[in-house]
Amino acid sequence: MSNQAADKTSTYLHGSSPEEQARLSMLNDLLNQECLRVLNPDSGNRVLDVGCGLGQLSRVVACSVGADGFVLGIERDTQQYLQAKKLAAEAKERNLPEFRQGDALQLPLDDCEWGTFDVAYCRFLLEHLQNPVIAISQMIKAVRPGGRVFLADDDHDYFHPWPEPAGFQALWQAYIGSYQRLGNDPFIGRRLVFLLREAGLNSIRNSSVFFGGCAGNETFEAVADNLIGVMVGAKELMLSGGLLDESSYHFGMDGLVQWKRNPASALWYSVCCAEGLVPLEEVSN
Ligand SMILES: C[S@@+](CC[C@H](N)C(=O)[O-])C[C@H]1O[C@@H](n2cnc3c(N)ncnc32)[C@H](O)[C@@H]1O
Repeated sequence: MSNQAADKTSTYLHGSSPEEQARLSMLNDLLNQECLRVLNPDSGNRVLDVGCGLGQLSRVVACSVGADGFVLGIERDTQQYLQAKKLAAEAKERNLPEFRQGDALQLPLDDCEWGTFDVAYCRFLLEHLQNPVIAISQMIKAVRPGGRVFLADDDHDYFHPWPEPAGFQALWQAYIGSYQRLGNDPFIGRRLVFLLREAGLNSIRNSSVFFGGCAGNETFEAVADNLIGVMVGAKELMLSGGLLDESSYHFGMDGLVQWKRNPASALWYSVCCAEGLVPLEEVSN
């Protein structure tokens, strides 16, 4: 079975509408510097960003690895790919990544590129795949022996807005159900170490990037808006799948808006990160 056949029904839950692209862009503004700190590429590294979206993190990494380095961002969706190229061209940064359209399950690399990257990473990709193991094995194949594979993803069990917004549990469970409805894993964050170990990587480590905040903090409104934005984007999937009825959806959304305005509100959430080294001898996939 080809990789494409293995995941031909894979659907990206959030889509690529202009509203969704604005949300993704805001999320990048909030997270990228902290993600760069954890990813920690070396100057001169060749880096692969799989499922790069709008390419903002690819660009931050490209600036970090400098002129002697190279960043290649892979994105499947045509709108995201074109927008990534457009944003990069507008930014006119000295060291821009290359963007290439293609599938994480069948990376569009030339023969001479496999096994040449120092680091391959993905962020918020694996939770959208029915076959994350294939994507990880492609990343390992892309990396040189001794190079790093870095995964950052959500675990929707570790998400606690407090005081809990009215109607939140029904909304959140329906949102989690929309991942499961697509055959994807909303709890993949906790499995990242396991997936790297199963894939045969060495020196595995885990960490997290805080993506919460509390009322009164500079970034809280944006963090809360991101939560509201994902719920707007998933509405159709939740309703059409019978995961939630329309009135419960609106009740939950009103609860989120009230929560965002409450001066005592806090969001406790961290992105799960894990990385491992590709063995010096070849891994058989
Ligand atoms: C939540 S976004 C994250 C984008 C980026 N990694 C970031 O952190 O900002 C997930 C991205 O993965 C892309 N994607 C989903 N499935 C893919 C696949 N099989 N191959 C490549 N990209 C994929 C989506 O189109 C979307 O742009």
